[in-house]
Amino acid sequence: MSAAPLPLHGGPDGGPPVRHDFSSNASPWPAPAALAALRRADRRHYPDPGYQALREHLGAALGRAPQQLLVASGGAEAIRRLTLLARLRGVPEVWVPTPGFGDYAAAAQALALPLRRYAAVDEVAEGAAAGAWVWICDPCNPTGRGLSAADWATLDALQRQRGLQLALDLAYAPLRLDGEPACPTALRGRLWHLHCPNKALGLTGVRAALIEAPQEIAAAREWRDQALALAPSWVLSAEGVALLSAWVEADVTEYLAQLRTRLRALRQRQHRGLLRRGWRVEPSDCGFALWQPPQTALAPLLQALRGVGIKLRDAESLGAPGRVRISVQPVAAQRALWAALDAFKEQAR
Ligand SMILES: Cc1ncc(COP(=O)(O)O)c(C=O)c1O
Repeated sequence: MSAAPLPLHGGPDGGPPVRHDFSSNASPWPAPAALAALRRADRRHYPDPGYQALREHLGAALGRAPQQLLVASGGAEAIRRLTLLARLRGVPEVWVPTPGFGDYAAAAQALALPLRRYAAVDEVAEGAAAGAWVWICDPCNPTGRGLSAADWATLDALQRQRGLQLALDLAYAPLRLDGEPACPTALRGRLWHLHCPNKALGLTGVRAALIEAPQEIAAAREWRDQALALAPSWVLSAEGVALLSAWVEADVTEYLAQLRTRLRALRQRQHRGLLRRGWRVEPSDCGFALWQPPQTALAPLLQALRGVGIKLRDAESLGAPGRVRISVQPVAAQRALWAALDAFKEQAR
């Protein structure tokens, strides 16, 4: 059997260093308190294999029982593990948003699970089999859009009627710049949640994530024990423990609110610059968004930018052909992008 290619991602790509990285959705600045916590991480000893103190700390902060919480070595690992769990529990099919993060589909395909893609929640309503596993990304990568109250009402009804397993990926929730999440409070306890705070904390090199199991499943222990059994021992490193622990502290929460204010101002500036150069943007609730350049051929443009250390994310592999995903970056990076785009246009004349 030939090996499946690795899913494509933004960020480092094995080429020369990326000086101005618009291709990853992560915050460009590491959160100072989280960075300080990482420096204090105890690397000399194994973490507690049950992560008891960490789960109690996170449970108290999030209003969840510690037994509902599972730690993971990143969202990507959690997606693989939850998909494997779904496969073992006999889930009939996996639904993934499109455009959407590629790892949901890659995980289902690696396990030969029937894969269904949805562009709108109504398609899930029309086609989902009883007990199907449904990934929801809110706000969604790569669009940056959140689900509407009507979408959530549909999912709520579907979950009750067909026993769907709804898995809500909150990777970009702390980076939402507009609007409020519309998930009904009553549904929250019936969802799987995935938190991947390394993006908002600007520390994606630290592999750490948190899974919340639905209340019913955590209480019955059946899925939870299996999910625990699927994780390697010490799945979360000492740095991972430090990152998750810091994420819910008051100073980090405050920092994240300031970060959003800063990103809103930078977004306005960056959008002006791109719109002035003839780019078109799709609606997004986040700093990152899908953009269409005035040129029709994307590849030469992206290649030219990469040649001068600037990276944008071709969104084709995310299900958005002809578009690029661009995150909001600091002023110096924006200036470098304007210079490179103007030079490319000049050369093309
Ligand atoms: C929507 C979404 N979920 C999860 C992940 C995985 O992130 P990590 O493994 O760094 O936690 C990503 C990474 O880009 C993502 O975009």
